[in-house]
Amino acid sequence: MKKRVIGTGSAAMEVSAVGFGCMGLSHAYGAPTDEKEGIDRLREAVEIGYTFFDTAEMYGTPDDPYMNERLVGKAFEPIRDKVKIATKFGIRFDTSSGTTPYPIVMNSTPERIRESVEGSLKRLRTDHIDLYYQHRIDPNTEPEVVAGVMADLIKEGKILHWGISQVDEDYLRRAHAVCPVTAVENRYSMMARAYEPLFPALEELGVSLVAFSPLANGLLSGKYGKGMTFDKKYDYRSAMPQFTDEAMEKNQQLLDLVHKTAEEHNATDAQISLAWMMCRNFKPGIVPIPGTRKVERMRENAAASEIELSFDEVSAIDAALDEIPMSGVFGEKR
Ligand SMILES: NC(=O)c1ccc[n+]([C@@H]2O[C@H](COP(=O)([O-])OP(=O)(O)OC[C@H]3O[C@@H](n4cnc5c(N)ncnc54)[C@H](OP(=O)(O)O)[C@@H]3O)[C@@H](O)[C@H]2O)c1
Repeated sequence: MKKRVIGTGSAAMEVSAVGFGCMGLSHAYGAPTDEKEGIDRLREAVEIGYTFFDTAEMYGTPDDPYMNERLVGKAFEPIRDKVKIATKFGIRFDTSSGTTPYPIVMNSTPERIRESVEGSLKRLRTDHIDLYYQHRIDPNTEPEVVAGVMADLIKEGKILHWGISQVDEDYLRRAHAVCPVTAVENRYSMMARAYEPLFPALEELGVSLVAFSPLANGLLSGKYGKGMTFDKKYDYRSAMPQFTDEAMEKNQQLLDLVHKTAEEHNATDAQISLAWMMCRNFKPGIVPIPGTRKVERMRENAAASEIELSFDEVSAIDAALDEIPMSGVFGEKR
């Protein structure tokens, strides 16, 4: 697979042009996969050419939030030098709350980050994390404090780079001034474009965008239709607004647009959805990190890095996206 450099200067790192989102193997897309199956999938991803893997210290079930990091650790221990591992700190399930689903608590105090990094290193069976993200902004901890801890962790060699997920411009600028940020990991897809106003700041600072949920949780692949049902306990899609029958109808024009572009490029709908962001005229680079449990789809998504959409094609899609009706999408206010 093609490579991309994310970040700039001392914060730069090389990754595969499409990264792999590991979350769905253990969290949010059905009951967690069997461990052996998960390890096989991750090693197959490396064979296909993925070098950039995304996990977090809370990608599991509320009772076992560390499951995904453990899986990633076991899968890559023998091939650690072939992969770049990104993980995240700063949110956890509040299992003491007495309410389910357990609420999420933000905590990025220096003490908590220190505990998190040690735990992640252990579970990931490694002595360094390639890219360490703050998962969500903690309203009670200033960005300068978090960035200061990141600078110390980089000096200590425990992490090599850092990033922030779902970050706004003010927080990013303040954090980046203390310790250069490699990437922001924000929700971004044809259905979730709320962070586009952040792009000029990312370009100015030389910070890349790692795009999570780039397929709008799978919808943009065109593989979903009316009448689909999802496991209410383990599959968040059962409550995602874009998967209701009503939403399916509302999104038809969007899905038709993606499909028509795919036909023109002899590609699949998922590939066009990824190529649309990878081919943008955006200097520090956008790296999507789709997740799948299926090897064929891993190949398909990786091959999206070969598709060339021209500037005019991307602009025409953008203009269409501004106009066509769309349902709500998980995680984005509309
Ligand atoms: N920073 C954050 O706060 C945050 C939040 C959410 C996610 N993330 C990261 O981003 C990664 C990706 O996000 P995501 O998993 O939410 O959304 P996504 O990649 O947009 O969608 C994943 C869904 O799409 C399906 N899919 C993937 N490739 C496909 C293809 N080629 N054709 C048809 N269906 C396909 C998968 O189903 P199958 O398994 O059935 O193929 C899965 O249900 C996660 O794994 C995680 O690492 C980060």
